[in-house]
Amino acid sequence: MTRDDLFNINAGIVATLAEGVARHCPDAWVLVISNPVNSTVPIAAEVFKRMGTYNPAKLFGVTSLDVVRAEAFIGEILGVDPRDVSIPCKPPLSLDPVRAEQLMARIQDAGTEVVQAKAGAGSATLSMAYAAARFAEACLRAMAGEGGVVECAFVASSLTSLPFFAGPVRLGRGGVEELLPLGPMNDIEQRNYDKMLPELAGSIRKGVEFAQRRAAAGAGQ
Ligand SMILES: NC(=O)c1ccc[n+]([C@@H]2O[C@H](COP(=O)([O-])OP(=O)(O)OC[C@H]3O[C@@H](n4cnc5c(N)ncnc54)[C@H](O)[C@@H]3O)[C@@H](O)[C@H]2O)c1
Repeated sequence: MTRDDLFNINAGIVATLAEGVARHCPDAWVLVISNPVNSTVPIAAEVFKRMGTYNPAKLFGVTSLDVVRAEAFIGEILGVDPRDVSIPCKPPLSLDPVRAEQLMARIQDAGTEVVQAKAGAGSATLSMAYAAARFAEACLRAMAGEGGVVECAFVASSLTSLPFFAGPVRLGRGGVEELLPLGPMNDIEQRNYDKMLPELAGSIRKGVEFAQRRAAAGAGQ
């Protein structure tokens, strides 16, 4: 499915579930995994704002799968267990620009790699539950008072010109306690970042506009 197909199916589902959360468990940590996360998280945020329960520290888009994929592929290159790899990037990895671009493309397209390997037998279901469980468990550990829990997620953010961004966040009892800096970018990363920013802005706007149209139409009152 394209991101647009996913949006058309999942936008309404996420809005309906967010309305239920606002009514019945307004203080919950909300982990949105339904794609496209770059739009479904802004939808949930708009619903919560409208219903007076928005807490940006407790709304997350689950992006751990991308990190899991990056750790697996970088572990493969370094010859170490992926569990000993932490993104970004311990142990350090130095690649020439061509190999770096190949690796980035592989991480970004890992879902397609899985679909092709299954040769028509299904969608990119490899490691999804693992990634989701890893993020949910990190939230539970932080909620229970464990210090220093850091995971990547798509959250309300002041790190860029956009209202949401994905990156490492430190979690505490109340949700996001600190947005960790993006760190220095090399030329390839900077170019990709510049290219990505307007696209992400469009995805966020699409979610916000969907939620506003839905509110104007009186849904979820
Ligand atoms: N963020 C990520 O890393 C990531 C990775 C892979 C998949 N995804 C997304 O995760 C979502 C689930 O994928 P999946 O493969 O588990 O799909 P799936 O079809 O196996 O499961 C979807 C589940 O949602 C339920 N559902 C459908 N409509 C609902 C509604 N209105 N209210 C409540 N529940 C409803 C279905 O009964 C089903 O159990 C998709 O949106 C997919 O795009 C996200």
